[in-house]
Amino acid sequence: MAIKVLQASSVGEKIAAAHQMATYWHGEADKAVNYSGAVISTSVGRPEKPELVDPRHVKRRRLGSLQGRTALLHAIAHIEFNAVDLAADMVARFGGDARISDDKRREFITDWVQVCDDEARHFTMIENRLLELGSFYGALPAHKGLWQAAETTCHDLAARLAVAPMVLEARGLDVTPAMTEKLKNVGDLESAAILEVIYREEIAHVAAGTRWFYHICQREDRDPDIYFKSLLKIYYKGVLKPPFNTKARELAGMHASLYQD
Ligand SMILES: [Fe+2]
Ligand SMILES: [Fe+2]
Repeated sequence: MAIKVLQASSVGEKIAAAHQMATYWHGEADKAVNYSGAVISTSVGRPEKPELVDPRHVKRRRLGSLQGRTALLHAIAHIEFNAVDLAADMVARFGGDARISDDKRREFITDWVQVCDDEARHFTMIENRLLELGSFYGALPAHKGLWQAAETTCHDLAARLAVAPMVLEARGLDVTPAMTEKLKNVGDLESAAILEVIYREEIAHVAAGTRWFYHICQREDRDPDIYFKSLLKIYYKGVLKPPFNTKARELAGMHASLYQD
């Protein structure tokens, strides 16, 4: 079912597949199954629109204008859409990963099935807001950096956890409160309310990533701070930019010693 999410190329199909997987897993799935994971390709189904471009070519606009807010929400919709795939990939590709102990496997899968369900819901909230504002997901170009992060870490669960939940999603925790404030300041309370929901739930996603990263470190007798930094050196091209939302990161179990020198 996770592979079905990944392969779905239409927006509606991908979102529906994500919810279906969650309903199945929380309900009738035989969770005692000996899950061995799947060897899957890193190619992923995507709709024809939005056009995917280099991040440098995505225009930035001021939030005071309707266009600016539409552009911001479109960028967030794109992040949520990619996040659906990233969570499904965690289930399909890493659900059977030997670095997770067998007695924790069900819990591991449950976490990412839940994240996938959340991301699909986040996407729909933003998509509906875009429609209310007279736009839609696909109306603007979007950047292709997010799935690239998945491709470069497809062979290493610890690297995936470090880069996706613990860097990219944690970055969301850093920037979302200020964005929400700006939306409120320009009077877009509806969009601000959606971002507040997303923000709260993303703390749990970062927490899940961090917890499983620590699980691997503990099993492999690694120092989390050192290992995290060494993985980023290989797999993350950017720099970790302050200011950090240390309060939210702490709630997610990310101690400052992980991401600060
Ligand atoms: Fe999300
Ligand atoms: Fe998330």
